[in-house]
Amino acid sequence: FIPPKETNEGGAILAKDILGNPIPASQILAEPPGTRALVAGLAGDPTYLTLEKDATINPWGIVDNCTHLGCTFPWNNIDQEFQCPCHGSRYNADGSVLRGPAPLPLKLVHVAVKDNAIWIAPWTEIDPRTGENPWWV
Ligand code: FES
Repeated sequence: FIPPKETNEGGAILAKDILGNPIPASQILAEPPGTRALVAGLAGDPTYLTLEKDATINPWGIVDNCTHLGCTFPWNNIDQEFQCPCHGSRYNADGSVLRGPAPLPLKLVHVAVKDNAIWIAPWTEIDPRTGENPWWV
């Protein structure tokens, strides 16, 4: 896997692993459907990618940063929720709040696969979960 240039004109960056190496899409796509794969995204933010049943990567990336006080959190595959260990906030698969104290949905980023590279780009338009401008822009 020879990664392309690490940024593109639209402000997208390549998804990277914990060591800062670009992750080939084939590595993520080898995981079972339903996997949430954690990668380093924009500004190094830990970001969850979701493996779909049709062996694609969901175009919504979920930033692993609780909107309460910023803890990172795991995906609970049994409950099908993100569950923050710090104060108990829970989010559904698209990052909407199911239970506080988190006040806001999780930040979204765009995810696109091209030529075995995973590109992550800022989400600046309407948040489809709320129908409003994103709180993070
Ligand atoms: Fe996640 Fe408080 S930081 S619930």
